[in-house]
Amino acid sequence: MRTNQPQTIYLKDYRVPVFLVDHVDLRFELFEDGARVHSVLSMRRNPDSDSSDTSVELNSDTLTKLESLSLDGKELGIDAYEDSVDRLVIHDVPDHFELGVVTWLEPQNNTRLEGLYQSSGMFCTQCEAEGFRCITYFPDRPDVMARFRTRIEADKASFPILLSNGNDVEKGDLDGGRHFVTWEDPFPKPSYLFALVAGDLVEKRDSFRTLSGRDIDLRMYVEPRNSDKCDHAMDSLKRAMRWDEEVYGREYDLDIFMIVAVDDFNMGAMENKGLNIFNSSCVLASQETATDMAFQRIESIVAHEYFHNWSGNRVTCRDWFQLSLKEGFTVFRDSQFSADMGSPTVKRIEDATMLRTAQFAEDSGPMAHPVRPESYMEITNFYTLTIYEKGCEVVGMIHTLLGPDMFRKGSDLYFERHDGQAVTTDDFVRAMEDASGRDLSQFRLWYEQAGTPELTVKDEYDQAAGIYRLRIDQRIPDTPGQTNKKPQHIPFAIGLLGADGESLPLKLSATDADEPTDRVLELTEASHTFEFHGVSECPVPSLLRNFSAPVRVYYPWTREQLMFLMSHDPDGFNRWDAGQRLAVDVISGLVGEAGSEAVDSGLTEAYRGLLTDTSLDQALVAKMLQLPSEAYLIELADKPNVPDIHRAREKVLGHLATALRDDLLACYKRNSVEGRYEVTPQAVARRSLRNTALAWLLHTDDEEGRALAESQFAKADNMTDRMGALRALVNSGYEQECKQMLDAFYEQWKADPQVVEQWFAVQAGSSRTGGLSRIRELMSHPAFDWKNPNKIRSVIGVFAGQNLPAFHAEDGSGYRFLEEQVRRLDDSNPQIAARLVSPLTRWRKYAPVHGEQMKKALEAIRDKSGLSRDVYEVVHKSLAGQ
Ligand code: BES
Ligand code: ZN
Repeated sequence: MRTNQPQTIYLKDYRVPVFLVDHVDLRFELFEDGARVHSVLSMRRNPDSDSSDTSVELNSDTLTKLESLSLDGKELGIDAYEDSVDRLVIHDVPDHFELGVVTWLEPQNNTRLEGLYQSSGMFCTQCEAEGFRCITYFPDRPDVMARFRTRIEADKASFPILLSNGNDVEKGDLDGGRHFVTWEDPFPKPSYLFALVAGDLVEKRDSFRTLSGRDIDLRMYVEPRNSDKCDHAMDSLKRAMRWDEEVYGREYDLDIFMIVAVDDFNMGAMENKGLNIFNSSCVLASQETATDMAFQRIESIVAHEYFHNWSGNRVTCRDWFQLSLKEGFTVFRDSQFSADMGSPTVKRIEDATMLRTAQFAEDSGPMAHPVRPESYMEITNFYTLTIYEKGCEVVGMIHTLLGPDMFRKGSDLYFERHDGQAVTTDDFVRAMEDASGRDLSQFRLWYEQAGTPELTVKDEYDQAAGIYRLRIDQRIPDTPGQTNKKPQHIPFAIGLLGADGESLPLKLSATDADEPTDRVLELTEASHTFEFHGVSECPVPSLLRNFSAPVRVYYPWTREQLMFLMSHDPDGFNRWDAGQRLAVDVISGLVGEAGSEAVDSGLTEAYRGLLTDTSLDQALVAKMLQLPSEAYLIELADKPNVPDIHRAREKVLGHLATALRDDLLACYKRNSVEGRYEVTPQAVARRSLRNTALAWLLHTDDEEGRALAESQFAKADNMTDRMGALRALVNSGYEQECKQMLDAFYEQWKADPQVVEQWFAVQAGSSRTGGLSRIRELMSHPAFDWKNPNKIRSVIGVFAGQNLPAFHAEDGSGYRFLEEQVRRLDDSNPQIAARLVSPLTRWRKYAPVHGEQMKKALEAIRDKSGLSRDVYEVVHKSLAGQ
């Protein structure tokens, strides 16, 4: 059992480990009713530690049953050590010794999916962040790096494939139909990168020749029924390997690289050295079963985990406060990769949308924390949007400030200087400084201060002098535990447009010889005024181009200016952003009492322009036609009433769909070209445009639209079009037709878990069909499984995160429902339970009718007996007074 008051861990308490582990020798005996793990650790006193303590500390967990403990071959009696719930201390150890540990585990009963567990009959592990201690007693911290040798023994017929990190060095048969394989990883690594897999899997092989001419064996292991869904991941892997060589000069270092797909997985994927383990939904794909979005997501996740081999594994984190060192940097690397593989503008739009919708919300709520936190209770709660997405933006700003060449010099220096080490975000910044000669001391505040900076921009034009002035004030809001923040160093990219849409030269003084039309202004003070000289007419400013910093910008745009920027800004991101701002302005103008007013015809005409002008970049148009999401509108609103926001957005959508009906039909038909299915940016844009047009048409219960949707559903040769049609129908008023199609869809795909997850999600997320009674029906459906995180996410997670009018129903039923599910899940899988709580945590933000009921739900969760540390932390922090 867990203790009642979980402990807080502080960065300031960091001490180097007193003992190091040079080598780990593991032997796993896998049986039907459990697993025995024999471990021998070669340990020695750390010369860098000034502690004179003669006892050694190991981490453990309630899942780990100790069978025996020996020091230099001698069994230790119970008075030689202290064993508490999660820690074991051995007294009076010498400076060098071998520690033998034998533990007994029950992977078949491990529902937490941390450490060693079973998923569809196979054995697999998840050790990040603190799962290795669920396998054996060990100093389970990332600054203890050891070489691992792992022998796995299991029944040969049931588990023909036995995998671990590194190279297979020995294999053979044992008595009783059993066999073994021994793996050796030559690279020292922290325990969180250890992995083991045993199962009856098919092997897909490929190879990759590195730039230096080494041949790498690439292998994917999947259940036999998935053997036709590996090609996309394998191709993505080869593209990622090539890209990392070309852009970062990083080659793969082992002879084998393996990817395994498992159905039950708490996260998306894990970068274990040489043996990446993936959630099936993040790696398996075929044209028939996966949407375009899934294809793109798989490419970026495969790349992300592969890139960790350098940013995370070769150079790892000193402690978990430095998590963004590997995650923020690796997300930056995978974003650059995705941008290079597809449309950079579209990728930037997707990243900024996620950041502004979800990370900004996190950063202004009770869980707000810096990119490098100062404290935590449960580390798995800190795999947040701030660590990942804001962390990525922070690295991106360094890239912007240094430029690509200096940035590359900095990353080369970082990898060279710290290869084989466990380091800090500060070491990363220092390498960037040393390589470029730039001073990033003020920039470091991005790692230390939480909260989203707010920039207020005012301008004035002096016609007589030809001077245009921009005044920019920055302010960083208070966050839990942090007030009175210092101004940060912010790269602010801008341009100025003349009335004819031409870019004006940006001269920062009368004598400025430089006349670029794009500039990155560097903000370092609370207030700056920039003067642009030789400006011949009053310009329209294009601010924060390409979203050059993760900040909020306030400027009094008129609707005319926004429409102008939408069609003229040479910066694609800002063209999109102007459209979003215009739509937000129109929709928020119709919330609540203003609900009966007319929709601005300017918006309709702007969208008509997008729909009809085929000379525009269609990938950008596809994005521009997406109205701002409900979640984003809520994030922007003060004390939002969600059902009101939903109604206003629906009204605008309905108006646009009616007014633009003929253009939508034409757009639909124009983009319905036959041909081979491809996942190129052009083809993806075409399917996206066509499915958006269809969804809008069905919004007005259009008969022709319905017929198109039914025929698209019947004829589709790929999941994007099939799902596009199904989603449009489910979100429309055609209940009978849609019921039949949902049934037919399920019958056709019930054997494929990844497709069934999409089938759950499309229903749970629909405000038309996904009422609470439907959600409960889905949860009693035979395909729903409480032990499978993907099923929980696709029903409960999607309901609370996407079906916002139902989740925020006036009677509080959505909140009570979530409370009930979190309390139930807390016992079996606390990590997933803690993540599910998140939609309730921002209760203070909402209109009081909602906020009070959300708070009650949180209190009911808080009062559950035996609450996990994971859920405890989230609930207590969000209820804490402010
Ligand atoms: N290292 C993480 C996986 C992880 C996260 C393990 C949390 C333990 C706890 C991995 O590299 C990762 O970041 N995975 C992401 C996907 C990625 C593309 C951002 C995930 O699992 O969601
Ligand atoms: Zn990662």
